[in-house]
Amino acid sequence: MRTLAAPPFVLEPQLAAHAQEMFTVLSDPAIYEFENAPPIDEEWLRKRFAGLESRGSSDGTQQWLNWVIRLPVGKLAGYVQATVFQDGSAYVAYELHSQYWRQGIGSSAVRAVLQELRDQYGVATFIAVLKARNYRSEALLRKLGFVPASNEQAAQHRDEPDELVLVKPALAAANAA
Ligand SMILES: CC(C)(COP(=O)(O)OP(=O)(O)OC[C@H]1O[C@@H](n2cnc3c(N)ncnc32)[C@H](O)[C@@H]1OP(=O)(O)O)[C@@H](O)C(=O)NCCC(=O)NCCS
Repeated sequence: MRTLAAPPFVLEPQLAAHAQEMFTVLSDPAIYEFENAPPIDEEWLRKRFAGLESRGSSDGTQQWLNWVIRLPVGKLAGYVQATVFQDGSAYVAYELHSQYWRQGIGSSAVRAVLQELRDQYGVATFIAVLKARNYRSEALLRKLGFVPASNEQAAQHRDEPDELVLVKPALAAANAA
C-alpha cells in the first residue's frame, strides 16, 4: 500500500499505531447519526487496526485497504477504506470527525483513493452501500460521479431494505473533479 497525496492532505496506510489518535476521531457521536457505532475502547480499535494490517482476507479473495487522512496541521481527520474483490469491484466507505465536515476533505480523500484503486488495483467498478437517509454521504458520492445502481446490482449488494447502493465505473474516475 502506498501513501497517497490529496493536497493539502496526505492519506497514510492505516496502522495499529494510529489507534490512539483515531479513537478520539471515531468517538464523535455525530458520525453515527444514521449507521454504525463508535469503537468500544482504544484497545479494541488497536486490535481491529492490527487485524486490518493483514490487508486482506485469509483466503486471499478480498483486499482490505484502509487509509487515515492526515491534515496539514498534523492531526488525523478520519479514514477512507476499500474492500477490493477479485471480479474488479470494490466497496468504498469513509468517516470523518464532524469538526472537519463541509471543507472538501472527504471528497478530496475519497477521490484520491478511487484513483489509486483504479490505477494500482485494477478496480473497474466502485460500489457504496449507505443508509438512504444519509444525505451527507450520498451528496459526497454524487459529487464524485456515483449514480444509483441498477435493481439487479442493488439487490446483490444491499443488506437492509433501507440501504441505497450507488456505483461508479472506474474509467470515469479521472473526470471526477
Ligand atoms: C459523509 C462525510 C464523509 C462527508 O465528508 P465531508 O468532508 O463533509 O464532505 P465534503 O466537504 O467533501 O462534501 C462533499 C459534498 O457533499 C455535500 N455535502 C456534504 N455534507 C453535506 C450536508 N451536510 N448537507 C448538504 N450537502 C452536503 C456537498 O455537496 C459537498 O460538495 P460541495 O462542497 O461541492 O457542495 C461526512 O459527513 C461523514 O464523515 N459523515 C459520517 C460518516 C458517514 O456517514 N460515512 C458514510 C457511511 S456510508
